Order: sequence, then C-alpha cells, then structure tokens
Amino acid sequence: MRTSSANFLYLLLSSLLLHRPTIAAKRSYVVYLGAHSHSYDVTQTDFDRVTDTHYEFLGSCLGSKDKAKDAIFYSYTRHINGFAAMLEDVEAVKIAKHPRVVSVFLNRGRKLHTTRSWDFMGLEDNGVIRSSSIWKKARFGENTIIGNLDTGVWPESKSFSDDGMGPIPSKWKGVCQNGADATFHCNRKLIGARYFNKGYASVVGPLNSSFESPRDHEGHGSHTLSTAGGNFVSDASVFGYGNGTAKGGSPNARVAAYKVCFPPVSGNECFDVDILAAFDMAIQDGVDVLSVSLGGDAVPFFNDSVAIGSFHAVKHGIVVVCSAGNSGPDDGTVSNVATWQITVGASTMDRQFPSYVVLGNNMQFKGESLSAKALPKNKFFPIISSLEAKAANANAIDAQLCKARSLDPKKAKGKLLVCLRGDNARVDKGQEAALAGAVGMVLANNDVSGNEIIADPHVFPATHITYTDGLAVYHYLNSTKTPTAYITHPSTQLNTKPAPFMAAFSSKGPNIITPEILKPDITAPGVSIIAAYTESQGPTNQDFDTRRVQYNCVSGTSMSCPHVSGIVGLLKTLHPDWSPAAIRSAIMTTARTRDNVVKPITNASHIKATPFSYGAGHVQPNRAMDPGLVYDLTTTNYLDLLCALGYTKVQVEKFSETPYTCPSKNISLLDFNYPSITVPNLNGSITVTRTVKNVGSPATYTSQVFKPAGISVLVRPKRLKFKKIGEEKMFKVTLKSKKSRAAGGYVFGQLKWSDGKHNVRSPIVVKTI
Ligand SMILES: *[C@@H]1O[C@H](CO)[C@@H](O)[C@H](O)[C@H]1NC(C)=O
Ligand SMILES: *[C@@H]1O[C@H](CO)[C@@H](O)[C@H](O)[C@H]1NC(C)=O
Ligand SMILES: *[C@@H]1O[C@H](CO)[C@@H](O)[C@H](O)[C@H]1NC(C)=O
Ligand SMILES: *[C@@H]1O[C@H](CO)[C@@H](O)[C@H](O)[C@H]1NC(C)=O
Ligand SMILES: *[C@@H]1O[C@H](CO)[C@@H](O)[C@H](O)[C@H]1NC(C)=O
Ligand SMILES: *[C@@H]1O[C@H](CO)[C@@H](O)[C@H](O)[C@H]1NC(C)=O
Ligand SMILES: *[C@@H]1O[C@H](CO)[C@@H](O)[C@H](O)[C@H]1NC(C)=O
Repeated sequence: MRTSSANFLYLLLSSLLLHRPTIAAKRSYVVYLGAHSHSYDVTQTDFDRVTDTHYEFLGSCLGSKDKAKDAIFYSYTRHINGFAAMLEDVEAVKIAKHPRVVSVFLNRGRKLHTTRSWDFMGLEDNGVIRSSSIWKKARFGENTIIGNLDTGVWPESKSFSDDGMGPIPSKWKGVCQNGADATFHCNRKLIGARYFNKGYASVVGPLNSSFESPRDHEGHGSHTLSTAGGNFVSDASVFGYGNGTAKGGSPNARVAAYKVCFPPVSGNECFDVDILAAFDMAIQDGVDVLSVSLGGDAVPFFNDSVAIGSFHAVKHGIVVVCSAGNSGPDDGTVSNVATWQITVGASTMDRQFPSYVVLGNNMQFKGESLSAKALPKNKFFPIISSLEAKAANANAIDAQLCKARSLDPKKAKGKLLVCLRGDNARVDKGQEAALAGAVGMVLANNDVSGNEIIADPHVFPATHITYTDGLAVYHYLNSTKTPTAYITHPSTQLNTKPAPFMAAFSSKGPNIITPEILKPDITAPGVSIIAAYTESQGPTNQDFDTRRVQYNCVSGTSMSCPHVSGIVGLLKTLHPDWSPAAIRSAIMTTARTRDNVVKPITNASHIKATPFSYGAGHVQPNRAMDPGLVYDLTTTNYLDLLCALGYTKVQVEKFSETPYTCPSKNISLLDFNYPSITVPNLNGSITVTRTVKNVGSPATYTSQVFKPAGISVLVRPKRLKFKKIGEEKMFKVTLKSKKSRAAGGYVFGQLKWSDGKHNVRSPIVVKTI
C-alpha cells in the first residue's frame, strides 16, 4: 500500500511535468489571519462572507479575485481566520508582509506519533470497578464529547457501539460526513465524523473515492479514539492474549472522528492545512476534549498548525491533549510544546506477554511477544545470528538488522535467527526471517532501547528481548559450536514489576521552543496497549499480513495521549466549569513519581528518570478529581506569554477575538503560572511567583521542598490559609545556587503543598550558568 502510493505520486508528478513544463512551482501554504469575532448566532451566510473576504484579500495580492478563487482550497471561517492556498514562494513571502497577516507557512506534513491500563491506574481492581474510582463519581464521562484528529475510525468496531447510550447531547452541532462511503455510519456513541484531505491532495495529487470518507484504513485512529472514549466490550483480546473488557477512559463519553491523516508520503501523513480545517470545525461542532496523537518537529507557535488550532480550541474551553512524540531517548526531542496543550509521554504498565528464549546451555531469558503461532514445546532448533545468514549481495549491517532481502534462505532455513533492533519495523524483521525460511526470531534490543521490549503481533514465532539479554545470547552464539534454542508460547502476566518505567521511544525535554516551560507535562501507559483496530489491514500494517483483528496491541506516545484524553473527559463531566489549565494542573499536581515498588520511576535502562521524561509524573486519575489546589491560567495569560516570547504586538492582537493589547512591560516567563517551575539559566539567585486557587474545602496548606542538588529553595509564605472555594493566594519561591556549585547540567527537585489530605506537587527543574 505504501509503495503503491509512492508510485502513484511519481506518476502524477511526471505527467504534470510533461504537460505543463513552464508553470512556476506552486506549493500549498497556510495564510493565518488570527481569530474571528463572530456574534453568537452566526450562520452559513456569515461564513460565506468570511470566505469572500479571503478571496478579496488574496485577490488584491495576486491581481484578481478569480486567481484567488483558483488558489484557495480551504477557507477557515469558524474560529480560525485564514485560508490554505496554492502559492508561488515569492507570493507567500509578499503576503507574509501584509499587515493583516499573522503568519504564512508551508503546508508541512506531520507524523502520527487498551484493556489493563485502567486497572494499573487504579480505576478498577482485576476488572472490578473500585468504589473510590473516578469512573463512578464521573459517571464514566457521561455526555462529554471527545474529538480525535487522526486516521479516522472503523465505525463497525464494538468499541463504538451505542448500546446503553441516551440521546445525542443537544449542544452537538457536528455531522456524519460519509462522503463516498455509503457503509460508513455514525450512532449515539460515534456522534460525528468528518474528513479533511485537500492538503494531502495538494501534495500527492488527485485522490480516488477511497479518500472521500472518515473510515480508518490504518488502525491508528480507531485505536486512539477507543482508548479515549470506547464503550465496554467484553472478551476483547489479541489472538487470545490480554483477554478482558476493553474500554476507554471515558466509556460513556460521545466520540467524534476528524480524519486528517492518510497513507504516508515521504514519511508524512497528516498535513497542516487539513489539521487547521479539522480544529476549526471541531470547535464549531462542540467537542469538549480534543485528542491529537500526531506531531512534527517543534517549530515556533505561529508556524505550527497544531499549536494554532489548539490555541483557538483552548480559548473556547476545549482541553487539547497531545502526544510528546516518539523520538526518545535523546534530550530536547519533545514536540507539541505549546503552553496551552497537555503534552503526554509514554511509559509501561504492569502487564507483560512473556515468551522465553531457552538456550541449549539451559540459560533462559524473558522476552515478550504476541505471536499467534508457536514452536513445538521444548524442541531445540539451531540458532544463529542473522549475520551468519547474510545474502551474498547484502551488506552486513542490513543482515544484522534483518532488513528486506538481506538474508539467504540456504543459510536461514529451519533455524532460529537473532535479529538486532533498529531502523526497520520490528515486525518487518520477522517477515524477512520468515521469508528466508527461519522457524522463528529472537529480536534483541540495541543499547538505546535498553529494557524496553514490546509485544508485537509477529507473523511467526518470535520474541523480543532486552539489550543485556541480547548480549548474553550473542555471547552464547559466539562461544558455542552448535548453538540451539527454543522459544516458548507467549502468555499474559499481570502485576509485573517495576512498573511503570519510561519507554525509550518517548520524546524528552528540555523544551527547545520555550525552555522556561517544562514539557512533557505527564506520562501515561503507551507500551503494548490493546484497543480497537481497523479491519482494512492486518495487525502489523504490512501488505504481507492478511490476518484481520478487531483489537490490536500497539505502542507509542500516540497511545498514551488518549489515556489522558479519556481522563480529561471524566474531569470535564465532574467539573464542567474548570478551565483547560485547571484540568491540566489537577492532572499534573496529583501525579506520582514512584513506581509499583515505591522506587523513583526509571528510564528504559532502569536508571532513575527525570521530569524531562515524565513531566510531573505518572497520571493518577482518582487523585486528579480532587487536587485541592490548582494553578490556573486564562487566555489573557497565554497572550501575555506570546508578547513576552517576542511575537509582535500586531500578531498577538490578531490572535485574540476580543480587543487585547500586550502589557506595557513583558511578563517574566519564569512567573508564568504553570504547575511546574523551570529555571533554565540560574545566575546566582532568582525569585519566581505562582498563584494557587483553592478548589477543595477550607484548609491550610504547608509547603515542603525537595531541593535540587546544589540549590537552596525558600518558599514564602510557608503556609497558605484558604477560607473558601475559589480563593487565590500568591507565593514566591527563591532559588539560589550554592557557592560551591559550578555551572552544570540540569538538576531536579520538587515543591509540595499539603493540607494533610491533598498533596499538590510541582517539579522544580534548574540549570545554573
Ligand atoms: C485508491 O488509491 C489508493 C492509493 O493509490 C489505492 O490503494 C486504492 O486501491 C484505490 N482505490 C480505489 C477504489 O480505486
Ligand atoms: C515559518 O514558515 C515560513 C514559510 O514556510 C518560513 O519562511 C519561516 O522561516 C518559518 N519560520 C520559522 C521560524 O520556522
Ligand atoms: C476471554 O475470557 C472469557 C471469560 O473468561 C472467555 O469466555 C473467552 O473465551 C476468552 N476469550 C479468549 C479469546 O480467550
Ligand atoms: C561475537 O562475535 C562477533 C564476530 O567475531 C563480534 O563482533 C561480537 O562482538 C561478538 N559478540 C559477543 C557478545 O561476544
Ligand atoms: C537512562 O539514563 C541514563 C543516565 O542518564 C542514560 O545513560 C541512559 O542512556 C538512559 N537510558 C535510556 C534507555 O534512556
Ligand atoms: C518583550 O520581549 C520581546 C522578546 O524579547 C521583545 O521583542 C519585546 O520588545 C518586549 N516588549 C516589551 C514591551 O518590552
Ligand atoms: C551573572 O550575574 C553576574 C552578576 O550580576 C553578572 O556579572 C554576570 O554577567 C552574569 N552572568 C551571565 C552569564 O549572565
């Protein structure tokens, strides 16, 4: 499917070149004009009028309104003001200078970044819902509407059945846009679906009718949407593994799919202009939560469709939850870093699918797998490094990685192969080994992946082992004349320890756009997550995989993001009047930083992880419903921040729907009322301020500090007394680097406010210069 779409692209480009050789190259751009100030009872005529202003405006730049009509293919008319158009680069530069314009940016592509996890987070206990569970108190997210920007949805999945759902909430204004797909339907659970493919088409060329539908042909969107808001489905499993009742974080929520991602072209699958169109529509449709498991490199906010779209959504009280990205474990890789988004990293939970490698010398190593096929019990096979099975014309590294066409069937046949992780997809390595006639595969981690092993639905018997275990297996192969081994049938194991630990792939801070704001904000389960899938493709998403599954096991920050979206759905039901920032604060300040053996959460090498990996920690939904205090923020606070970041006064003023002017004196980024404190350049000493709002009963809170190494921390006042709900108090934190401390890397600590019942925790992150 991927290769065929690449060919398709090539054919289109060559025909364009043949027929119109002299035309100046046009590319698709976003022209962003800020916000609208529609009245409350806005109608289609108002939207059409806006579109006409876009034609007039672009017409004045291009010389004629007709040219503008040809060029514009999206007009954003609801909340986001702007349009997408095919422009020459010189035209784009010229338009960007116009005083009405906030920014002009290229339509870049972005990448897309299950059952046990809710038990792991304390909502249930072996499938029985706890009485203290936020699920009970928040009526399973009843009537909250969760939208998802992704690859669409598989509407036939039982996770989207409307069994037990009442009438569609009257505030809903969305539609079920089934385009050319008459079999696509919505119901009282899946209350809306739309697709946005013009930006994709502007890059790949004309699309056939299979693109005119919100149907999910990939699996990703069904998986993420069902994780956020899927209904209860008993006996859900992947080939019998992980059997249980599948459900989303808000099982009684209504869901809506906004399809903005299509088969990848040059590795990108979701395009800016489509993303903006989806945000604009979702705000208008009336969603409460938006889940966005996609992203690209972090770029300045006004060039970032997800940041712009999220801003408009948050202004309307919608909470936007985004994935941090899968570019870990390197530092500075986190994406979706805008201060109005909730940015989610990924970690493991306490479920594994163990499948052991047993060597001829009786050593055994615990791997993980979801292979449906198993080898005969206790029967040894010869085992070799895949390098030993190198095809004559392949290079050694490709053979070691078991890349396509790198193995020689004469050498691999009847043997177990040890393949190294890295570069190509894990399931593709299994496919190559299977094609070469191997009986099974041991997939060994490279050093950067450490202990992060993933249960994949391999096409044949295979298991995935850690880096250290892989070294031991390679060592055995080297030191033995006739090495042998077998792989055991996978099983499902619960209560594994330690859990959680951070996934090696989870993108990390520091935040390269605004280092003063810690990102990611939080971590949630994102490894081996079981949730609904498409039946258009097999569970490995490869052409060779003809199997079909209703539930699949997938890993990524794409999977952790909708866990938090589902939890936000519950908080929205419980606290409809809380701002998006208050909800984020509740989630962050109640997170935990210890694992299930009460040790600090570690990274995938089992070394203590830091807030750059997990933000405030691992989400604890039952605690988040009653945080005691919140660090709140308003739209004006976000606009003030943008002024201080150097966005021009004119840009920021357009960003706001209501009259706004930048403050005469910039705010300090360090004082931005975020639930974490980050000082990336401490020179001697600094005092930062924060304001907390009481959302619990009257209480007196006392501060406690865990100091970052070499930094003294003073909190004033030490105590905060709240007499009523909604009361706000300010406090100051003075950070001082000790004389003995030389300039160095980042150090980490924590501030905790406690009234004996609530612990309100904030990470402290400091770098001295
Ligand atoms: C539409 O195009 C895609 C990608 O080029 C192709 O895989 C698919 O088979 C086509 N479908 C139809 C209905 O023509
Ligand atoms: C924003 O996008 C425009 C148009 O693609 C580009 O010229 C500009 O360099 C980008 N700005 C930044 C800071 O990335
Ligand atoms: C899952 O568990 C249920 C109840 O224990 C059982 O009836 C069902 O057969 C199991 N399904 C699979 C695929 O193992
Ligand atoms: C095994 O032998 C190969 C080739 O001699 C060498 O590159 C590799 O480092 C050895 N591995 C171990 C774990 O001893
Ligand atoms: C874990 O942290 C240690 C210490 O910072 C680092 O050396 C190692 O590479 C990290 N491992 C992973 C998988 O992130
Ligand atoms: C605020 O800070 C930005 C970025 O440093 C700067 O461009 C701007 O002039 C400042 N505004 C004021 C009012 O000082
Ligand atoms: C740190 O502060 C001292 C004293 O105020 C000043 O002289 C020095 O230039 C500062 N260093 C940096 C790197 O800003």
